[in-house]
Amino acid sequence: MTYESALKKLKENGQEHVLHYYNDLSAREQEALLAQIEETDFSMLTTKEKEAGKTLSRGRIEPLEALQLDAIREKDAYYRGIGLKALKEGKVGAVLLAGGMGTRLGSDDPKGMYDIGLTKHVYIFQRIMENTMDVVRECGAWIPFFVMTSDKNHDATTRFFEEHDYFGYPKEEILFFKQDMAPASDYNGKVYMESPCKMSTSPNGNGGWYISMNRAGITDLIHKKGIEWLNIFAVDNVLQRIADPVFVGAVLDTGSDVGSKVVRKASPDERVGVMCLEDGKPSIVEYYELSDEMRVAKNEKGEYAYNYGVILNYLFNVKALERIMDQNLPLHVVEKKIAHIDADGNEVHPEAPNGYKYEQLVLDMIHELDTCLPFEVVREKEFAPIKNREGVDSVDTARELLKKNGYEL
Ligand code: UTP
Repeated sequence: MTYESALKKLKENGQEHVLHYYNDLSAREQEALLAQIEETDFSMLTTKEKEAGKTLSRGRIEPLEALQLDAIREKDAYYRGIGLKALKEGKVGAVLLAGGMGTRLGSDDPKGMYDIGLTKHVYIFQRIMENTMDVVRECGAWIPFFVMTSDKNHDATTRFFEEHDYFGYPKEEILFFKQDMAPASDYNGKVYMESPCKMSTSPNGNGGWYISMNRAGITDLIHKKGIEWLNIFAVDNVLQRIADPVFVGAVLDTGSDVGSKVVRKASPDERVGVMCLEDGKPSIVEYYELSDEMRVAKNEKGEYAYNYGVILNYLFNVKALERIMDQNLPLHVVEKKIAHIDADGNEVHPEAPNGYKYEQLVLDMIHELDTCLPFEVVREKEFAPIKNREGVDSVDTARELLKKNGYEL
């Protein structure tokens, strides 16, 4: 891209300041900046939905029943049989979403490198791979394993896996791919500069995982290998069950487009996204989007009607994913801390949020699909998220849950 066309593009988007240092840059730096301008989509910065966390408009919300623990236990052997067969036949792949920045945890390293051990090393990535190995042993086959990283943590992540010998997993069964990035801006939608020759960017949310996989050429491999289902999950749940045969079996048996692991809410007011139907299609609404009446509403069995929270563990049908790949997911504007340079070129690492990142979320993919099976799991056995350094969903709470489940730390 030439300087003139870059300037034109920036002017159209109100971002001319990006070229402020251009004349002070080396030829290589100038080239890099022009290339970044060329590949950046600035349209999101002018979105009208400027308020962080602004609620997207919702359709008609109704309850969506979950497959509950009792019913699952009754058919455990049946579902397990179906799941193990599919896993053995290589029809299920696992996708670890590890492109996030983990800003709340506050470590500069990728979140998966965090060591939660007390007397020995227990890295988050290690926990994930150990849990995957449980199923590998049960089904007697390697599960094709994909790891989504971002520009910010790709090298550190791949190096860490290599240094730890892929935690016993065969190297050739693990493929890393990078997710797309989005510009990060101040509160007026002006993109921040990370350095004089680079705009600040952040991973574009976990909703772009399949598109990023496709761009990396991995979907060709998925077809070639005959993978029909993809189990995607968050990096930060250290009790995460991956490619759980019973879950796989239940989703396959019901022929749903997607399955979602859910936990029973601790109380009607718990602040989790819940599974429901929106205009007749599966959807996830945030706790604040439910009216007081809906929060306590009961179904004909006398149970809370909106009672199942999502834990970011989904099993997607690949054909269904392909049908929705071209859909534009809603954009979420999130207030975050964004490192940048100030007007004098000094580096700033803010202690408090100072602008917006722009993200698409995997939970919005669910609403694009026709059918979803919410599948209940026992919270204390499967949900130990590490979001914060202290307090709720922290290293401490996760350690407690791990110990309760018999893990030595
Ligand atoms: P979170 O919503 O907790 O975001 O991610 P985060 O970036 O890890 O953490 P904070 O908000 O900055 O503290 C949930 C899951 O989605 C992945 C994360 O790695 C985590 O597994 N994720 C998130 C991505 O893969 N890419 C993204 O752009 C965002």
